[in-house]
Amino acid sequence: MDASGVALVTGASRGIGRAIAVDLARAGFDVVAAMRDPSDGDGLVEEVGASGGSITVQRIDMDDPDTFVVPDGLRVLVNNAGIEREYLPVEHVDIADWRAVFETNVFGLVELTARAIPVLRAGGAGVVCNVTSSSILAAIPFYSVYRASKAAVSAFGESLRCEVAPFGIRVIEIMPGPIDTDMLAGSDRLPEASAHEGYREMAEASYEGRKAVDHMTTPAPVAAARITAAILDDHAPLKHGCDDLSVGLLDAWSAAPVALVGSPYDGQGL
Ligand SMILES: NC(=O)c1ccc[n+]([C@@H]2O[C@H](COP(=O)([O-])OP(=O)(O)OC[C@H]3O[C@@H](n4cnc5c(N)ncnc54)[C@H](OP(=O)(O)O)[C@@H]3O)[C@@H](O)[C@H]2O)c1
Repeated sequence: MDASGVALVTGASRGIGRAIAVDLARAGFDVVAAMRDPSDGDGLVEEVGASGGSITVQRIDMDDPDTFVVPDGLRVLVNNAGIEREYLPVEHVDIADWRAVFETNVFGLVELTARAIPVLRAGGAGVVCNVTSSSILAAIPFYSVYRASKAAVSAFGESLRCEVAPFGIRVIEIMPGPIDTDMLAGSDRLPEASAHEGYREMAEASYEGRKAVDHMTTPAPVAAARITAAILDDHAPLKHGCDDLSVGLLDAWSAAPVALVGSPYDGQGL
């Protein structure tokens, strides 16, 4: 597709979402940068600069469908906003945390997408770009809530891709590895699971493994450039990495898609 028309990016206040919004605008789209607190969008116009398309800020809270306004003429929807919670064993996760993460990462995304499809259909073409996580390709303890929410979006996107292809709408899935953002910085901690009887050793081993990615992070603008390229590619496959680690993980998964890859915890007959 050509880089023109309206693109809506959720969670554009910071991190990957902000970088995608800026990159799409510089490429030529008229970007609606959606965020919970519009004052976080201060400076976006200056960041985009004079070339390319435009950028405006709109309030969208993924937990509040009353804030969901789909802009007229939408061509690209980037479902980027996402949260995670404490890293706990399943038996210790409060069900309220499951509901909170699924509200933001899954139900909000599904409802916004459902409302966007008629607008994309009316335009005769478009792209839905779902940001999931490469973590769903590897068995990682204590990430069940986050990974399950991303796996739900992944399956949702697979079905949606089939359904809307006849209308000229492409669905793609971006599966980031470690991108240098607040979320990644926040994950640099001993999993809370360590406080629970029977889980300390695995939590400490998991944290040691997590430290290894400190040397493999990718800046958000670099990831955003790869995401823009996938959005613009009319022949793009469904699943994409946006950094070297996720590209490698996805390659390994593609070679043996029935197996979880790259985890010391996957030897239990998976
Ligand atoms: N960074 C990584 O290494 C990595 C790896 C794999 C996948 N991802 C995924 O990539 C996406 C972006 O992550 P990031 O690293 O950029 O995270 P981040 O720095 O924590 O930013 C998260 C963004 O989501 C927004 N958000 C959270 N809850 C929201 C809600 N209810 N309504 C609207 N916006 C909401 C945040 O808005 P506020 O500023 O208002 O909080 C913020 O803009 C997420 O879906 C994440 O799961 C990231």
